[in-house]
Amino acid sequence: MKQIQWFPGHMPKTLRELATEVKLCDAVIEIVDARAPFSSRNPEIQNIIGDKAHIILMNKALLADSKETYKWSRIFHGQLKKVLEVDAIKDKNMILIKNTVKTEVNRINYIKGTRTINQTIRAMIVGIPNVGKSTLINNLARKKSCATGNMPGLTRDTVWIKASEDFYLYDTPGVLWPKFDNETMAMHLALIGSIDDDILPLDDVCGYGFAFVDKYYRRLFKEYYKLADYDINDLETIYAQIAKSRGCYLKQEIDYERINRLFLKDLRSKKLGGITFDRADDHTQKKVI
Ligand code: G4P
Repeated sequence: MKQIQWFPGHMPKTLRELATEVKLCDAVIEIVDARAPFSSRNPEIQNIIGDKAHIILMNKALLADSKETYKWSRIFHGQLKKVLEVDAIKDKNMILIKNTVKTEVNRINYIKGTRTINQTIRAMIVGIPNVGKSTLINNLARKKSCATGNMPGLTRDTVWIKASEDFYLYDTPGVLWPKFDNETMAMHLALIGSIDDDILPLDDVCGYGFAFVDKYYRRLFKEYYKLADYDINDLETIYAQIAKSRGCYLKQEIDYERINRLFLKDLRSKKLGGITFDRADDHTQKKVI
């Protein structure tokens, strides 16, 4: 596999901005992709959050494998995190999010001995690109959104979004890139569409994807692409069968590029069922931040 070309140059600036802005917030809502709850987190966030209320939302939960989502919830609970599975598009659990954030802020304030009653809650939304931050903010705010740069203590150009009378949201300043340090994480981010398709060679991503679905979702994989018996170590046989069942030919030759794109589209749109790439069992023995 070719070396990954990935240099998130302005990450330090974003992290500095986050560290400054988080001081103005009561809570940090960290959004991760439920299909890759490990790879789609940026571990630097933990250092910035400090003693603020920290709520993890596993978004796009309806695209993920529900059994794995449950296991991931257990892992995060085990790390004493507040965690919810949500779907920002289908509007799943929006009320619960507000209530959970408020309860968690009150709990933390109680421990710290600071005032909690009738407090306006300011929550910062953080997450790597494409996890659903904007979609979630729009749904939480339900068109009541308005820019309020004049809240006490806030920088003039900070845009706060009003979700309700006592609940304000703030989107991540700058772009918080994922921080992956191994090929597996990069593959999982590519498969969920969180990094551009041209960062990793498409053949490698799809080769990994075929092996992954063969290992964890074999029956669905075979059924969906009408595959007869195949040898996963011989990808040519898989491409040949998909070309036949889906008519992917270019001048009577197998159109590999088209099959790759089709496969990624199918994976990302749940055509093979809910899929989770980061397997919880691979992480239960490890320290998850
Ligand atoms: P971001 O601000 O974190 O960058 O993410 P954004 O809300 O823009 O969402 C990225 C894409 O993910 C959007 O698709 C959005 O519709 C989709 N999305 C967000 N939340 C959910 C969810 O809970 N379930 C599903 N199924 N999709 C969700 P898009 O505009 O089509 O962009 P793209 O997927 O073509 O990149």
